[in-house]
Amino acid sequence: MPPTLIEMRGIQRTYVMGDNLVHALRGVDLDIDAGSSIAIMGTSGSGKSTMMNIMGCLDQPTKGTYKINGKNVSGMSKSELANIRGRMIGFVFQSFNLLSRTSALENVEMPLLYQGVSSRDRHKRAMAALAAVGLQDREDHHSSQLSGGQQQRVAIARALVGDAPIIMADEPTGALDTRTSYEVMGILQGLVAKGKTLIIVTHEADIAAYASRVITLRDGLIVEDRQQTPIDAAAALAKVTAEREVADLALAEKNKRAEKAS
Ligand SMILES: Nc1ncnc2c1ncn2[C@@H]1O[C@H](COP(=O)(O)OP(=O)(O)OP(=O)(O)O)[C@@H](O)[C@H]1O
Ligand SMILES: [Mg+2]
Repeated sequence: MPPTLIEMRGIQRTYVMGDNLVHALRGVDLDIDAGSSIAIMGTSGSGKSTMMNIMGCLDQPTKGTYKINGKNVSGMSKSELANIRGRMIGFVFQSFNLLSRTSALENVEMPLLYQGVSSRDRHKRAMAALAAVGLQDREDHHSSQLSGGQQQRVAIARALVGDAPIIMADEPTGALDTRTSYEVMGILQGLVAKGKTLIIVTHEADIAAYASRVITLRDGLIVEDRQQTPIDAAAALAKVTAEREVADLALAEKNKRAEKAS
C-alpha cells in the first residue's frame, strides 16, 4: 500500500460576506495516496478552488483536520505553512502566472531563490527542469515570446524545480487548445510515472480522463469518488498529430491539383 499523502477529515470552509455566511466546503473527507493522480470536478461554485487552496496550504479550514504527509497543518502559522508549501507542493495555474518581462530560466529559478539555493545550483536545476518539459532551447525567451503551451510548460518546470512530491494544478489546460492540452497532460502524466502525486482541478471530462481517480464536488461536498484507468495523453497527442498530418497532406494535394487546373 502506498502511503497516504493527503488526509482530510470533516473539512469545512465558511466565508463571511457581510452578514452572510458562504459554506464553500461543508464536511469533506478525503485520502490521497502518494503517487496517484486525482481530478477534482464539479460545477462552478461547488468548492473546487476552495479545496485546492486548503490542500495547497494557501488557506486554512474553518473546521476539520488536514494532514499532509502525516503532519497536521491545522493551526500552523503562515510561515510554517509557507515552509510546508515550499517543500511539498508545486503549483500550476490556469493563467500560467509567469512574470512577463522575465526569462523562462529566471521564472523557473524563482522558487529556488526563496529557498536560498546558490546561484550556480539554481541555474543547473532550472535548466534541468526546462529540459524535462522540452524547453531547453527557450531559456532566454520572455513569457510574451512564448506560445500558450510553452508558457504552461515553463510553469510546470517552475512547479518541478523544487522537487516537491505533489503537483497541484487548477485548470492547467483551461487557456489551451485541444492539442496543446494533450501535450501538457502528457507532461503531467510523465511526472506521475516518475512517482509524483498529481492533483488537478478541471471542468473538462476529457482532461479528468487522464487521472486514475475522479472526485466530484457539489455544494461543498464530495458526491462521487471513482477509480478509472487513465487515458494515455502521449498516445492521444500522437493520434491528433497524425490526423493533422493527413489533413495537411490532403490540403497540399488539393492545392496542387487546383494550381494545375488553373
Ligand atoms: N474569498 C471568498 N469570499 C467569499 N466567498 C467565496 C470566496 N471564495 C469563494 N467563495 C464562494 O465559495 C463557493 C465555492 O467557490 P470556489 O471558488 O471554491 O468554486 P469553484 O468550484 O472553484 O468554482 P469555479 O469552477 O467557478 O472556479 C462559491 O459559492 C463562491 O462564491
Ligand atoms: Mg475555481
